[in-house]
Amino acid sequence: MSDKGDGRTANGSTGAVTPVAAPPAAAPATIVAPRAEDATPRSLSRFLSLADFETAARRALPRQIYGYYAGAAETSQSFQGNFAAFRQYDLVPRVLTDVSSRSTRAKLFGMDYWAPFGIAPMGLSGLATFDGEIALARAASAANIPSIVSATSLTPLERIAQEGRARWFQAYLPGEDARIEAMVARVQAAGYDTFVLTADVPVAANRENNVRTGFSIPLQPSLRLAWDGLSHPRWLCRTWFATLLSRGVPHFENMDAFRGPPILARNVVRAIGARDQLAWRHLALIRRLWPGRLVVKGILSPADAVLARENGADGIIVSNHGGRQLDGARPPLLALPEIAEVSGSMAVMLDGGIRRGSDVLKALALGADFVFVGRPFLFAAAARGEAGVSHAIALLVAEIERNMALLGVSRIEDVGAAHVERSPFPR
Ligand code: GLV
Repeated sequence: MSDKGDGRTANGSTGAVTPVAAPPAAAPATIVAPRAEDATPRSLSRFLSLADFETAARRALPRQIYGYYAGAAETSQSFQGNFAAFRQYDLVPRVLTDVSSRSTRAKLFGMDYWAPFGIAPMGLSGLATFDGEIALARAASAANIPSIVSATSLTPLERIAQEGRARWFQAYLPGEDARIEAMVARVQAAGYDTFVLTADVPVAANRENNVRTGFSIPLQPSLRLAWDGLSHPRWLCRTWFATLLSRGVPHFENMDAFRGPPILARNVVRAIGARDQLAWRHLALIRRLWPGRLVVKGILSPADAVLARENGADGIIVSNHGGRQLDGARPPLLALPEIAEVSGSMAVMLDGGIRRGSDVLKALALGADFVFVGRPFLFAAAARGEAGVSHAIALLVAEIERNMALLGVSRIEDVGAAHVERSPFPR
């Protein structure tokens, strides 16, 4: 039995969910009966699904920031394809299986988690709400799910490890041995146990939507930027000014072993180095340096899954970067079955397009051991801060738990290929 979460949720017909403290240690692995009273605070009770947070985030955030979070590359084909891929599969429920002892508890790399999902790394999360990166990490660790700190975060990774108890770090590395060595040493010294190498960013993507909204990195001071801030006074005071007053101008803190440039500046070019030189030999180098778990993120080809395994990865994240890199790249869900087949003992994870508990179950049925979900949690942070993220986590756990019952399974590891089939209907 797990020493942490056990996947319990208590949700009645109103869609209410339990408050998201991690389930108590040594709790029985059964669901509890729906409770009469709704434990969800009033300020959160109108958020019934992950999609509800996006509407609130769009209102709360300056247009440029929301556009950066929500947007994708070029035509958004890959972004939209991620959702369409889930609609190409139907679930195949089994009935009369006695699901009264079901649990969402999931194991990954020997750890027990409340549910088979974590929070994906997302750039500039620190602008979603005050101390956004800490809010995401804290909500995740309180719920006993993993969260991945992004290299393009604005809070020193050491603080996120200490205050948010984050243990996964996602690096953007140049193909330069000395910089790789220094970064790996920094991440290790901070106490992280899982190093995620991002493999799908050899160059910056073409995100025309950012140009159209006036978003750039670094943010260029302009009348448009000022107006955008002024027309969102709550965000301006509670996030931007609160950050300036207590932490100063945010910097790219975690791109390298040393502090990067400020995010608000004229004419600063980020020193991202020769990322286009990054190659499999660098993964082998990281493997030699890094004693913890090593994960490669951005795999879409079975041949690359094999190379990741041969170069020492413990796991891979099948991902097209939320549609934010190569537009036209295949949806990870469609790549998943053939990748899972060649992955051997590596953990196979997936991100991209997951918005519902049923999506999580489809990914598991098609070969994923675990999934990561990104934008909805960032939107939850923008809408309601850490409490919003906790509520979003609880909603997704409740959906998984309910859909497990409807699918006829009691344990996450029992979700398998027989529970899914390709839909005959184009949707
Ligand atoms: C950062 O990873 C981004 O996709 O913007």
